[in-house]
Amino acid sequence: MNLDALILDAETAFTRALDAAALENEKARFFGKTGLLTELLKNLGKLDAVARKQQGAEINLAKTRIEALLNQRRQALADALLATRLASEAIDVTLPGRGIKPGSLHPIMRTWERVEQIFGSIGFALAQGPEIEDDWHNFTALNSPENHPARSMQDTFYVEPLDPNGQPLLLRTHTSPVQVRYARAHVARYQGGVMPPIKIIAPGRTYRVDSDATHSPMFHQLEGLWIDEQVSFADLKGVYTDFLRKFFERDDIAVRFRPSYFPFTEPSAEIDMAFGQGRWLEISGAGQVHPKVLSNMGLDPERYMGFAFGSGIDRLTMLRYGIEDLRLFYEGDVRFLTQFS
Ligand code: PHE
Repeated sequence: MNLDALILDAETAFTRALDAAALENEKARFFGKTGLLTELLKNLGKLDAVARKQQGAEINLAKTRIEALLNQRRQALADALLATRLASEAIDVTLPGRGIKPGSLHPIMRTWERVEQIFGSIGFALAQGPEIEDDWHNFTALNSPENHPARSMQDTFYVEPLDPNGQPLLLRTHTSPVQVRYARAHVARYQGGVMPPIKIIAPGRTYRVDSDATHSPMFHQLEGLWIDEQVSFADLKGVYTDFLRKFFERDDIAVRFRPSYFPFTEPSAEIDMAFGQGRWLEISGAGQVHPKVLSNMGLDPERYMGFAFGSGIDRLTMLRYGIEDLRLFYEGDVRFLTQFS
């Protein structure tokens, strides 16, 4: 029984094992059912008590030593594995960063802020209304009775369920319902007192079942409303033309007011702007607020009058930057968007 040779054998065998699986095979050669150490221990039974005690102690010492060698090798292999993985996954922290570029306002938001600023400078207050609107505010109050064909020009998205009064809810097709909401609140606020004029703009998101180069299912409108005792169509022309001059920063803009029809204005006009060679782009509907709408606002049509307009913010943006296709605004392509930053 040469225990030193056995220990040496184990040491070389473990060192030669190059991975965990090979090492476990070598382990079996010593500690397995018929392993070298196991056999030695089995043979102890054949010895007398004195020899058994002495040899048993020696074998156990050798066993402990071989176990220690095994564990050392296991640890060494695990460490080496970790080291290669760390090396292969290493990142070079000294490389310069890619840089985070600052974002910028979307071109449509630039127009939005610009129109707020321009109309604010001539005394128009800012108003807002819900994007999910009820049928009454979006259509009926604006003099579009149920089943009237004018409604089909503004097909939209209906939302379920109905509102608490059993009315259909829909995504507003224009910002005009804000006229009615604002005017009714205004009338209620000044009930029994002196009512100041109503002079607001209401920019916001609007929705229609429409999609091509100049129409998007979601788009932006700018509503304007000025009601007092003497606000004429001439005021509309003056205010609106002045706005366009400021917006486009030039005095020679080509605008035309084209007779049109809206249920909520009378007379009504469409405002077009020159767009490229000999083409016109419609940018706004407008007109004198219809007497029925004034009544629905709670105003006396014999006493009050005014104008309203509803302009396409996206269209104004197309004209300002010379963009031919409105869908570019909604594709989120940074190559397009960074041109405005
Ligand atoms: N609401 C109309 C539309 O979206 C535009 C408009 C607003 C027309 C106000 C007249 C007065 O088409």
